[in-house]
Amino acid sequence: MTVESVQPEALAPDLREPPRAGGGVPGLGHGWKLVRDPLAFMSRLRDHGDVVRLKLGPKTVYAVTTPDLTGALALSNDFIIAGPLWESLEGLLGKEGVATANGPRHRRQRRTIQPAFRLDAIPAYGPIMEEEAHALTERWKPGETVDCTSESFRVAVRIAARCLLRGDYMDERAERLCVALATVFRGMYRRMVVPLGPLYKLPLPANREFNRALADLHLLVDEIVAERRASGQKPDDLLTALLEAKDENGDPIGEQEIHDQVVAILTPGSETVASTIMWLLHMLAEHPEQADRVRDEVEAVTGGRPVAFEDVRGLGHTNNVVVEALRLRPAVWILTRRAVRDTELGGYRIPAGADIVYSPYAIQRDAKSYERNLEFDPDRWLPDRVKDIPKHAMSPFSVGNRKCPSDHFSMAQLTLITAALATRYRFEQVAGSNDGTRVGITLRPHNLLLRPVRR
Ligand code: HEM
Repeated sequence: MTVESVQPEALAPDLREPPRAGGGVPGLGHGWKLVRDPLAFMSRLRDHGDVVRLKLGPKTVYAVTTPDLTGALALSNDFIIAGPLWESLEGLLGKEGVATANGPRHRRQRRTIQPAFRLDAIPAYGPIMEEEAHALTERWKPGETVDCTSESFRVAVRIAARCLLRGDYMDERAERLCVALATVFRGMYRRMVVPLGPLYKLPLPANREFNRALADLHLLVDEIVAERRASGQKPDDLLTALLEAKDENGDPIGEQEIHDQVVAILTPGSETVASTIMWLLHMLAEHPEQADRVRDEVEAVTGGRPVAFEDVRGLGHTNNVVVEALRLRPAVWILTRRAVRDTELGGYRIPAGADIVYSPYAIQRDAKSYERNLEFDPDRWLPDRVKDIPKHAMSPFSVGNRKCPSDHFSMAQLTLITAALATRYRFEQVAGSNDGTRVGITLRPHNLLLRPVRR
C-alpha cells in the first residue's frame, strides 16, 4: 500500500473558511503589498489569523502564520511541491530534479542523494571544507575591500562542487559555475516575480547575459557528467550515486534526469550557503563583541593553530552564532505548497488545488515565539533556554519529506568558515557598502563591502 492510496479521513462538516487578510487594494488585492515589501507584509499576517486568505490579482492564496501550522503543513501528505514558484523554476532548471519532483519519483531520488549528505558522510568532506575556508581568508589582503557577494558565492560553489562532484578538474569548473549561477539566480528571481514572458525574449543586454549564463550552466553540467564517464572512475560521491541510480523499474535513470539532478543540487546548494555567509560576515562586522567571542572559543579549542574540520564539534558557541544568523536571516524566506485534496489546517477548510504560502523569515522573527525577537543573541540556543522556543519556530532547513538534505553539510561548512574568518580578521563596512536586505530567491545584503583588519 502506498501513502497515496490511503483514503483521507472525511473532513468535519463545520470547517470554516480562513479569514481574509485586511489591507487589500481593489483590483490588485494583496499583490501590491507583497511585491512592494514582502518581508514586512508576511511578518504582519499573523495579526489577521493563524491561516488567512490573500487575494493576488484574481487568485486566492492561503498563508499560514503560526509555527505549529507551518510544521503541520510541511509534514502533511495533503500538500505537495507545486505552484507558480516551482513551475518557473522547472522551466529554467529542468523538470526531473529532486527539488521539484513529487510522489514515488521524489522518494526514489531522495534515496539516491541522501547517503552523500548523511552525518557520517560529512567528515570525508572535511579536508576540502578546511582548504576552502582558509583559502578564502588567505585571498584577502588586510585593508583591501572585499566584495562579499562574489567571495561568498565563490566559496559556496567551490565547496558544493568539489565535495559532491569530486575530481581535480572541478577547480576550473567551479570558477565557471560561480559566474553562471550568480547570473542565473539574479535573473531567475526577476522572471518569477515579474512574469512578463515576452519581455525576457527581447535581445536586451541583461537578457543576453542571463541566457548565456543559463546555457553555460547546463553545458558545464553536461561536461562534468561526460568527463566523469570518460574517466571510468567511480569515486564514492554524489555524482557516482546519480550515474548508477535506477528508476522504479530497476532500469538506469535517463540522461535528462541525471542532468536535472546535478542542477537541482548545485543551485539550491550555492545560493543558500552564499547568502548565509554574507550575513555571517555582516554579523562579524556589526557585532564585534560576537566576533571576539567566536575568536576566543576557537583559540581555546585550537590553541592558536589554524582551525580544522575536527574542531567543529567543539565549537558550540560558533555553531549557535550560525544558528542565530539563520534565524534572523533565513536564506529561504518563503515556501509554497499546493493542496492535493480538500483538507484542513488549524480548523480551516483548504480546497484541493489551493496554493499555500508561508515565510520562515516571519515565523523565526515572531515576537510571540522569541523574547527580544529582533536581537542577535546566540545564547538563546543554550540548552537551558532553547526549551522555551516553540516547536517549528526555527526550521531554516524545513521539516518533513522536503527537508533540506544538506543541513549537516551546510552547518559544518558555515561553522568552519565563521571560525576561520573570526580568528584571522575583524571586519569594517566601507563607504559604498549597502547592507540593506535584498529580497530575491534568497535573502542577502544588497552589496556588502567589508575591509578586513588583521587581528
Ligand atoms: C531543500 C534550505 C543548503 C540542497 C531545502 C529546503 C529548505 C532549504 C528550507 C526545503 C524547501 C521546501 O520545503 O520546499 C537550505 C538552507 C541552506 C541549504 C537554509 C544553507 C544555509 C543546501 C545545500 C544543498 C541543498 C548546500 C546541496 C548541496 C537542497 C535540495 C533540496 C533542498 C536538493 C530539495 C529537497 C527536496 O525537495 O526533497 N533547502 N538549504 N541545500 N536543499 Fe537546501
